[in-house]
Amino acid sequence: MYGRIARRYDLVNYVQSLGMVGLMRRDAAAFVGRGAVLDAGAGSGGLAAACLAAGASRVVCLDRSPEMFAVARAKLASYERAGRVRFVLGDVTRLPFRDGAFDNVGSAFVFRNIPSTDAAVGEVRRVLKAGGRVAVADVFAPPKGLTGALYKIYLNVMVPLWGRLIARDGLAYRYLSASIQNCFSAEELAGRLAAAGFADIRAQAKFFGVAHVVKGRLR
Ligand SMILES: C[S@@+](CC[C@H](N)C(=O)[O-])C[C@H]1O[C@@H](n2cnc3c(N)ncnc32)[C@H](O)[C@@H]1O
Repeated sequence: MYGRIARRYDLVNYVQSLGMVGLMRRDAAAFVGRGAVLDAGAGSGGLAAACLAAGASRVVCLDRSPEMFAVARAKLASYERAGRVRFVLGDVTRLPFRDGAFDNVGSAFVFRNIPSTDAAVGEVRRVLKAGGRVAVADVFAPPKGLTGALYKIYLNVMVPLWGRLIARDGLAYRYLSASIQNCFSAEELAGRLAAAGFADIRAQAKFFGVAHVVKGRLR
């Protein structure tokens, strides 16, 4: 599906999130943007770019969509020429890297797309060095109460509409809306990270609890 919407992904994402996605990537990058970083589900490279700007020495972008990588490559061309970015096609639940290969791992707007969260968490843990940091930014399950009710209307009406108008693919954006509404909560992800051996875990709410950046450190 991401192959279909890759060309317009950045634009739709920015419009429908009212600019929120950029702020969340920068927040995650401020935490993990040091040393050798894995951007798990890098897509069009927004988090990788934020990590490089924050001070990462190099970033490996991992994704299973070649079309999203075409967009990322254009965005990160100067970093790729300088040998600071590498693109690897693969699956977050079966990472093609040796144990302890990375200082830090970041992931933005990916985890809710992965059927086996525990497999992804296990792989992130495996490729991190001891003491390495993880930051997972996403729009998890909608908050409860009035904010949640208003947000669900936005998800069901506006998000597919932006998708239809800008990316000409309402169906793909209906899937994205559903993936948010069926997602686990940020607190649940925090629990899974704790069970996998991460410490100092914080699920930081953003934008009235609509989005979160979950951060932790491998013991
Ligand atoms: C919503 S996009 C997010 C892209 C990017 N991280 C960003 O900040 O915009 C989700 C990305 O996750 C990728 N993805 C989903 N499941 C994946 C998996 N199991 N392994 C690798 N990539 C995956 C998709 O191909 C897509 O590029």
